Amino acid sequence: MSRLESMRRRLTAQIEGLNWAAKEVGALKGDVLELGLGNGRTYDHLREVLPGRRIWVIDREMNAHPSCVPPEADFLQGDADRMLDRMAQAGTRLALVHYELGIGVAEADAVKSRSLSPLIAPLLVPGGLVISQDPLEGFERIAGPETVEADRYLFYRR
Ligand SMILES: C[S@@+](CC[C@H](N)C(=O)[O-])C[C@H]1O[C@@H](n2cnc3c(N)ncnc32)[C@H](O)[C@@H]1O
Repeated sequence: MSRLESMRRRLTAQIEGLNWAAKEVGALKGDVLELGLGNGRTYDHLREVLPGRRIWVIDREMNAHPSCVPPEADFLQGDADRMLDRMAQAGTRLALVHYELGIGVAEADAVKSRSLSPLIAPLLVPGGLVISQDPLEGFERIAGPETVEADRYLFYRR
């Protein structure tokens, strides 16, 4: 498989995972958190599939496409650990977290995602979901949509 084809599979899994999660959290109360704004592609998709939900965004940098810049009040710029702490202190409750802080180096990314897990869990309402390309700890791992291969994208419930 060429890298181009591999990229297509990853993006397809991401879109299908986000669509699935948006339906799955339908009845849950709570906000959404995009952990890793980057170019803003997945943030833009979340806005589309979850209209009416407040979407918090954490990133240490602002590099989003101009059409995908979140409202100032919802963008928490800084290191994820500090920003997650700030959300906990503010009493924010989340129905869905999309985690994408990774840089594509599996081992280092997994260390980071595991270390942030205990800061993410308390923000979620019971039954709240996390979807991620990197492994998290302290959540129940659940099956995502049938169309997404296991391990290509990871699905967790609190
Ligand atoms: C892979 S990109 C996110 C891609 C994005 N979801 C998209 O669809 O365009 C990862 C982002 O996470 C941010 N990031 C990585 N580690 C971070 C950390 N510890 N705290 C805050 N932001 C971090 C980087 O600045 C980068 O913008």
